[in-house]
Amino acid sequence: MLNVAVLVSGGGTNLQALIDAQQAGGIPNGRITLVVSSREDAYALTRAQRAGISTEVLRRRNFADQDAYDTKLLSVLEKREIDLVVLAGFMTIISPRVIHHFENRIINVHPSLIPSFCGEGFYGLRVHQSALKKGVKVTGATVHFVNEVCDGGPIIMQKAVAVLPDDTPETLQRRVMEQAEWKLLPKAVALFCAGLLKVKDGIVQIKGDLSCSE
Ligand code: GAR
Repeated sequence: MLNVAVLVSGGGTNLQALIDAQQAGGIPNGRITLVVSSREDAYALTRAQRAGISTEVLRRRNFADQDAYDTKLLSVLEKREIDLVVLAGFMTIISPRVIHHFENRIINVHPSLIPSFCGEGFYGLRVHQSALKKGVKVTGATVHFVNEVCDGGPIIMQKAVAVLPDDTPETLQRRVMEQAEWKLLPKAVALFCAGLLKVKDGIVQIKGDLSCSE
């Protein structure tokens, strides 16, 4: 059984999708044992507490420098013997030190089809604003391993979502979450925990069912 930490900053709907999947038996080889939030007012913390999951709040600005923050984050993760770190709407940059410590063991969900609308400055609603401004007819979500390149790590799974003529950034964000993010992320976590998802020489290897049906 692998210990999973989920790092959050906001509403925590992706965290909720993971909690729901775990409670429904969809992640049989892993359990969410820790939620780390970058903000004390994140609703994701309430979701974690309701599910009986331990929480920590770590604000980057409360630490003297990056190294002090990293030391604390790593010690919190080590204390719980975390095997997999999931970034679920986590808005603090993960440093190379933490990435190396958890090499190929950090997964992120991004609300676009990478390499479109990703990288620095593309997060949350901004991603959908950019997609609508560009006029793309299809967008989606990506789950990928985290490396030192922002949104540039090996891609695990993607799912396309249609853009509709009347979409606002908010309606598009919701559809991408419902149709893609909330399905892909629990699936990727389940596969990783089952030992069916690995990275070799920068290439993702997956054994098992890739479908994401309800
Ligand atoms: C999600 O759409 C996630 O993909 C996005 O933030 C949202 C968090 O929502 N992440 C990024 O943009 C990272 N670049 P949630 O708190 O309800 O899960």
